[in-house]
Amino acid sequence: MSEIASLEIDGEKYEFPIIKGTENEVAIDIKALRGATKGIITIDPGFKNTGSCTSEITYLDGEKGILRYRGYSIEDLAEKADFLETAYLLIFGELPSKEVLAKFEADIKSKSHVDEDVKKILDGFPKSAHPMGVLASLTSALIAFNPDSEDVDSEEEMYNAIVNLMGKFPVLVSWALRKKQGYPLDYGDDSLGYVENIAKLLFKKPSADYVQNNVVIEALDKLLILHADHEQNCSTSTVRVVGSSHAGLFASISAGISALWGPLHGGANQAVLEMLEAIKADGGDTKKYMGKAKDKEDPFRLMGFGHRVYKNFDPRAKIIKVAADEVLADLGVNDPILDIAKGLEQEALNDEYFVKRKLYPNVDFYSGIIYRALGIPTEMFTVMFALGRLPGWIAQWREMRLNKEPIGRPRQVYTGENSRPFVEVNKR
Ligand code: CMC
Repeated sequence: MSEIASLEIDGEKYEFPIIKGTENEVAIDIKALRGATKGIITIDPGFKNTGSCTSEITYLDGEKGILRYRGYSIEDLAEKADFLETAYLLIFGELPSKEVLAKFEADIKSKSHVDEDVKKILDGFPKSAHPMGVLASLTSALIAFNPDSEDVDSEEEMYNAIVNLMGKFPVLVSWALRKKQGYPLDYGDDSLGYVENIAKLLFKKPSADYVQNNVVIEALDKLLILHADHEQNCSTSTVRVVGSSHAGLFASISAGISALWGPLHGGANQAVLEMLEAIKADGGDTKKYMGKAKDKEDPFRLMGFGHRVYKNFDPRAKIIKVAADEVLADLGVNDPILDIAKGLEQEALNDEYFVKRKLYPNVDFYSGIIYRALGIPTEMFTVMFALGRLPGWIAQWREMRLNKEPIGRPRQVYTGENSRPFVEVNKR
């Protein structure tokens, strides 16, 4: 492959270096384009052809269905690692030794206390508030209680902000849920592991002793690992762009939560379950909904199908499908929604429209099914995604800061009115 790309505009030739990643991904480096051409830019809505950065964190190959964190396959990590060591790996680049992991965990636990006054902010929300909005707001509110997290330049300051957020985030997640349930707000239990503590925060009933279910812990751990990073998706790009203004870790993560909320991104897991419920309520006719999904006049899309990058299969969906079967069998769940999901899956996998467009079930098609089996309300599904994605967001934010990336500020091609005289209101 050539090392230079040439561009010709109006007889003028320009050359740009071609850069290669460690997995031989190729990109034309157009950093000099605007300067060299005196103002010409590229346009790429949705950034389908645009690399916003180089990154050492996550590699994915959409054609081959490969996903690796820091070089380790998602299959290995889901089977052999736990969520906290995966988080450490993502953020700091290497698997931690036992001692380093113990210190990371202890540092996180030492920061798990959320100021009592944050409860007053939560009190202001109606019970009907979507927990993603609550989580984004509370994460942002944490800045006021932890001003040290704002101006972080050194690696040490970054580390402190990171363990602080990792400690407090599960508590906020549980508060978003418990507010909806009308349950008292709890604090974490420092005697438990990170994921065990999350489970207790989520599932402890006010009137009964909490009994840990290891099937639930294992499924939760796996789900969190599978969601932990996915390179430059919508929310991660948001975190990097917000962070590039040096807005601070908590503000950047709060913005990432908002980006994740949408049904075309993290909100798809909630949308999948709502779609399955709607199909069930409508008599369970999956063919009718397949028809709607294919009808270009109908805005309906089969939620949980398709992916911007994976065009053959989503490796996370493969792992999660097995996990879903295990969890449902272990918990003895018999759910008619599942039959609808399986029916849709089979029809889509054999349907020309879906096959031609390479639309396969994505991770969110199955994650909602597990969350439902675990007793997590549908509106909380995307919050669970955020819980898993937190270390990925943090890793990407840290990398962006350490690489001293410039502020994210795209250009545009203006297509509005040319200059025109102002007309007074009574003359319009
Ligand atoms: N149902 C029906 N048709 C679809 C679907 C779907 N779920 N997804 C894509 N298409 C069609 C689309 O209409 C288009 O058809 P045509 O070529 O005839 O115009 C073609 O497939 C390509 O779609 P696209 O919207 O250009 O693809 P994209 O890469 O921009 O969008 C996507 C990817 C994930 C936003 C989209 O597939 C989608 O909306 N899926 C449903 C929502 C969903 O499950 N999102 C979760 C993604 S995984 C979690 C995450 O990483 O956030």
